[in-house]
Amino acid sequence: MHNLRAERFFKPRMINGRMASADGPIKTFPLRGIRDTPPYMHDGRLLTLDDVVEYFNLIQGLKLTDNEKQALVAFMRIL
Ligand code: HEM
Repeated sequence: MHNLRAERFFKPRMINGRMASADGPIKTFPLRGIRDTPPYMHDGRLLTLDDVVEYFNLIQGLKLTDNEKQALVAFMRIL
């Protein structure tokens, strides 16, 4: 399980008569065969695995080197 602690960002509230709150932990999905299923993310916004690595590099502030980015992409290509 992956707990993103989404409740940090949402206050429970009524929407159309139903109480809406953060969903909590999600089941971590596997990346097996990921090279064969572009585009990536739920809405297909990222066209390549390089884009995915750069995306997480930016939003997580990882400061990955070019070498580390290439290694991550190479790893995902063999899953
Ligand atoms: C360099 C680090 C990371 C890499 C290489 C990576 C890899 C990926 C890839 C390839 C996908 C696309 C899966 C698909 O389209 O089927 C993905 C989606 C996702 N990852 Fe990561 N990930 C990283 C970091 C993280 C972190 C830090 C989190 C959360 C703490 C996370 C949570 C998620 C979630 C929730 C999705 C689904 C997003 C969506 O469908 O829009 N990932 N990741």
